[in-house]
Amino acid sequence: DGSGKGAALITAVAKRLHNKHRQNENNTFPSVERVINVMARFRREMKNGLSRDFNPTAAVKMLPTFVRSIPDGSEKGDFIALDLGGSYFRILRVKVSHEKKQTVQMESEIYNTPEDIMHGSGTRLFDHVAECLGDFMEKQQIKDKKLPVGFTFSFPCRQSKLDEGILITWTKRFKASGVEGADVVRLLNRAIKKRGDYDADIMAVVNDTVGTMMTCGFDDQRCEVGLIIGTGTNACYMEEMRHIDLVEGDEGRMCINTEWGAFGDDGSLEDIRTEFDREIDRGSLNPGKQLFEKMVSGLYMGELVRLILVKMAKEGLLFEGRITPELLTKGKFETKHVSAIEKSKEGLNKAKEILTRLGVEPSHEDCIAVQHVCTIVSFRSANLVASTLGAILNQLRDNKGVGRLRTTVGVDGSLYKMHPQYARRLHKTTRRLVPDSEVRFLLSESGSGKGAAMVTAVLAMSWGEKTI
Ligand code: GLC
Repeated sequence: DGSGKGAALITAVAKRLHNKHRQNENNTFPSVERVINVMARFRREMKNGLSRDFNPTAAVKMLPTFVRSIPDGSEKGDFIALDLGGSYFRILRVKVSHEKKQTVQMESEIYNTPEDIMHGSGTRLFDHVAECLGDFMEKQQIKDKKLPVGFTFSFPCRQSKLDEGILITWTKRFKASGVEGADVVRLLNRAIKKRGDYDADIMAVVNDTVGTMMTCGFDDQRCEVGLIIGTGTNACYMEEMRHIDLVEGDEGRMCINTEWGAFGDDGSLEDIRTEFDREIDRGSLNPGKQLFEKMVSGLYMGELVRLILVKMAKEGLLFEGRITPELLTKGKFETKHVSAIEKSKEGLNKAKEILTRLGVEPSHEDCIAVQHVCTIVSFRSANLVASTLGAILNQLRDNKGVGRLRTTVGVDGSLYKMHPQYARRLHKTTRRLVPDSEVRFLLSESGSGKGAAMVTAVLAMSWGEKTI
């Protein structure tokens, strides 16, 4: 009986994925109480990260970014932006002008960053970045100019000013030697000087979350949160200076890069992590680190599903127990496959196609079951992000001391953009967690690419005219 087997399977997966102690086993998704519980935990993490006493040992670093204002739309100029650390390495040139209406002209190139460069020496990585920038300036015929450059560097950096970023630790796919503990602006400057064929003025290094918040802030003044759900996951938001112990001064606000990917690195999520999460962690470049990110983001989601399918097949619950070398190969099931399989109309056909390519000869019931597995994994991800985002939004509401919160969240990232159901689920759960609020989600237009450039624009302007 196909549907009976399907239901049993789903319960088994749900049980494994959500936790062993759940009360209602028929419920595939974590309960609202659990989401609220994780939200409360993350709120405490935020508080610890912001406090002088607890920051040194806090898992969630809550890094001050030295960005103090959201764009006001008056920014203009000619800028270059580098965007390193997401799905692509991009370089952009952005011209912002103000003839009656603000217009943005943008040109960009995507450059490859081969794995041996991501995992080689830091010197080689920055030589590569400098070489690509040289190539870009050559193509743009601006090698003789010294344009302001903004550097979107999507990794945790300690900053004491805008144009300095000391890499705390690599995350995601990168692991180049000799960069952790060093200032990435200096490394890049050094690589450029060494070439000697062009000059650049690196004005700021910003996290991609900050880039996203700034881009969206350009179109919507209410934007005070930046959210990324892509290769990795993270968020930033505007915090009151009086709550930020690590920076002098109590006036106004500053953007905080939460680095929420590291939530759980001190063991605080052990009760909801599963055997599959542990396996993902063991096989990663950074075991023991970014544990929340590994439950959520695009770099790991496909692999999570694959591990579950392998286990289910081994137990004879799928593919009549057939296990192929392809199914056993790390990386063979990608996050984009999860997205394809969860499409409402073609999803089952996609499942059939993808599973057939893995050689497991799926039955119709197998396809339905695999679709359910994908849903469980991606739904869990959206709910986890709703919890942490809910904590930030409630913090914003408390900071403002208003009953009703009206705010905008700028969002970017391949998973959020490509997955057919993700955004809707995330919005719905988040709104439930922050009752009596009006939360707008604004997709960062043309990706964090424009983000990087807009940040440069804003920062270049702020440099002279505004307080940053
Ligand atoms: C990782 C990085 C973080 C970045 C996020 C999204 O979590 O540590 O800095 O914002 O990925 O790209």
